[in-house]
This record gives sequence, structure tokens and C-alpha cells, in this order.
Amino acid sequence: MPTVNVRDLTARKRNGVKITMLTCYDYTFARLLDRCGIDVVLVGDSLGNVMLGYEDTTQVRLSDMLHHVRAVARGLTVPLLCADMPFLTYHAEVGETLRTARRLVQAGAKAVKLEGGREICPQVQALVQGGVAVMGHLGFTPQSVHRIGGHVVQGRGEDAAQRLRADARALQDAGVFALVLELVPAVLAAEISAVSAVPVIGIGAGRQCDGQVLVLHDLLGCDAEFTPRFLKKYENLAARVQNAVQNFVGEVKDGSFPEQRHEYE
Ligand code: KIV
Repeated sequence: MPTVNVRDLTARKRNGVKITMLTCYDYTFARLLDRCGIDVVLVGDSLGNVMLGYEDTTQVRLSDMLHHVRAVARGLTVPLLCADMPFLTYHAEVGETLRTARRLVQAGAKAVKLEGGREICPQVQALVQGGVAVMGHLGFTPQSVHRIGGHVVQGRGEDAAQRLRADARALQDAGVFALVLELVPAVLAAEISAVSAVPVIGIGAGRQCDGQVLVLHDLLGCDAEFTPRFLKKYENLAARVQNAVQNFVGEVKDGSFPEQRHEYE
């Protein structure tokens, strides 16, 4: 299978072929995802919640991101590998933005993702001029969860919708190759997708986006209590993993594992 690149994603949008994107944080899952037809694998800073048990993504450090990007890069050959720029590593000055992106790219990322709109366009432009493929992220932006005050749908009401449209246009003009829209009313996301020259990849943004992204562990049902409206669980790994481990515990205790066929002569 050929490696997916940013031009392939543009072509998917042009030809009306939906784009698929999933998060991944480690080598084992990277190998499993590699040949499933996923276009983009995101080492999201959601790894803070999913892998590291942080309260939110503002706790994620560049060292956390680099560790997981390297692991995923070792297991991935086909999908485009994109990595999140961590909280407040791209706001202060362009030099720090470029240095952070360089470290992520040298760890194996083929693209980086930044959260925000017009306020980060100078940084997006500098990265693109430096040769970095940049993905935008609008709507609910998890790194701003404390400013927003929770996981709230964005773009409701005409003023907010207008701001979102303007941010999407500005990011496109700054050179992003794709845009994630998170927790946005479906009608607005459909409108932005229709006029956008770059693919719009939705999460909680309805059916009309050019593609869909989910957190892998959410799709697999690793957390039985996490049931937001936008999520479809394709597996129930929480129960299956616990069941498997309880079976192991029971069999070791009652002596039915290991059997003779598991022994060396
Ligand atoms: O960090 C992440 O997982 C993300 C996706 C939800 C798009 O940004």
C-alpha cells in the first residue's frame, strides 16, 4: 500500500471520497492500524487523558508527545502521521513554534496540528513557509477547555458561527492542508466543508464533513462510562479486557492454566 500524503487527502475531497483519521499512541496499535485503510493517524495530545491519566491536555509536555510519536512512527508505514503541538508551545513566538515542530517532525511526524483560528495564523504561515504540513483545529479546542468552561458545542448563534467561518477561511489562507472541526452544529460544519478548499475532518460535527476522526480508545469502548452523543463504539474492549483478565486469574488460581501443552520438556 502506498503511503498517504497531503495531496492524496486533497484528491479524496475533490473526488468525494471520505477521509478517515484515528488517534494512536503506541507501537502495537500503530501496527494494527497500519493496513486498515486509515488515511491519517494522529498522535493527539488526547494521549494525556488516554495514556497518561492527566486531567486534560493542558498537562501534556513536548517530551510526552515526542515519546509517543517515536513509538507510533516505528509501527506505521501507510497512513499520514500527524502530531499535536502541545499546549502553549506555539503562541509566544514563531521561533519556539518552529523548534517544537522540528522536534515532532524529526521524531517521525509528517504533519503537525495546532488548535486555534486567526490568532495563530502567523505561526501557521511560518511553519508552512518552513516546509511543515499543518492541520488546523477549530470548534471545541481541548487545550482551551478552561477558557471555554467545559466540553461545549461551538459555533451556536450567528456571531459564533461567523467567527468560526472567518477562522476556517483564515487558516485555509495561511496554508493548512486540512482542518479538524470538533463539536460544531452539523449544519454549520456542512457549510464550512462545502466552501472549504481543504478537507474538513469532523468529530461531533455531523455527516457532511469530508472525513471523520475519533479517538481510537473511544471507538474501541475502553471506557464504559464515556458516552458522548457523537461517539459510536465499535467494540466493548473495557468488558472484554476485564473478562479476559478475570479468566486468567481464575484459571491460575484453580490450576487449569498452564496446561501440559504450555510446558517445556
Ligand atoms: O488530541 C486529539 O485526540 C484530537 C482529536 C480529537 C482530533 O485532537
